[in-house]
Amino acid sequence: MALDHYAVFGHPIGHSKSPAIHAQFADQTGQKIAYTACEVPPGCLEVAVKAFRAGGGQGLNLTVPLKELGFALAQELTPRARLAGAVNTLCWREERLLGDNTDGIGLIRDLTLNLKLTLTGRRVLILGAGGAARGILGPLLEQRPIQLALANRTLKRAQELAARFAALGEISVFGLADLAGHRFDLIINATSASLHGELPPLPDDLLIPGGACYDLMYAAQPTAFVRWGLEHGAALSVDGLGMLVEQAAEAFWLWRGVRPKTRPVIQTLRAALGRTP
Ligand code: ATR
Repeated sequence: MALDHYAVFGHPIGHSKSPAIHAQFADQTGQKIAYTACEVPPGCLEVAVKAFRAGGGQGLNLTVPLKELGFALAQELTPRARLAGAVNTLCWREERLLGDNTDGIGLIRDLTLNLKLTLTGRRVLILGAGGAARGILGPLLEQRPIQLALANRTLKRAQELAARFAALGEISVFGLADLAGHRFDLIINATSASLHGELPPLPDDLLIPGGACYDLMYAAQPTAFVRWGLEHGAALSVDGLGMLVEQAAEAFWLWRGVRPKTRPVIQTLRAALGRTP
């Protein structure tokens, strides 16, 4: 039987974990799919998507820096993709290109199902106001935290982002220097600072003792933000590997109508990361 073909497009794409994740999902669920990673520079996205479809492709993931371009390219959008302003999952519905965004739900599933955190009634702070923050605001508001706060180095960007979501719920906005005296149950790092091993300057008592820290980035070693959490009283301070697997599972579900088990895949990936020099 011919395999249904899926792929992830990105630039660069060399270190993508998506092929390994989807291969494990396919194995586990008996789905006959092939999933490959393709290097696609931003200027080539439209042509690459058309060529992929012409070759019989069934669905795509998009990663950095293609998610906003995918949003513009999609002919139809799910409500959560529209809110996020970015698309990480594509498929075709009666030959119309449908764009979805599974990043936010991936985070929520990791936080609530895997890590057993309650968000309802809690004070949640997001650091950063770029694309990564935008992708998670809608799903976080849906969890009804008592406070959802957004802090950014550039205050104006946080204000603009909060205004965009005003109809869905209140988001309190802070400059990084204005956080003193405020405390949160959960702090999520959505800045790209971690990528460079950096950390925004944070007050020592920003996290409630026994609270949680979550970095959207992941790495073989604890990120600077994960370390900050551990050094500042967090009961749980973790990176975003679980979110990566959960967003993939949600895409798999959209494409195949089957929900794979994520826990064993997260464990396998974590073990493999640990072997990375
Ligand atoms: P992404 O799509 O990954 O969110 P982005 O849109 O470039 O990337 O946004 C990066 C975010 O990280 C921004 O909120 C940025 O703050 P500014 O809006 O002030 O630029 C934040 N950021 C990056 N490096 C940072 C650093 N060293 N300290 C604090 N914030 C940082």
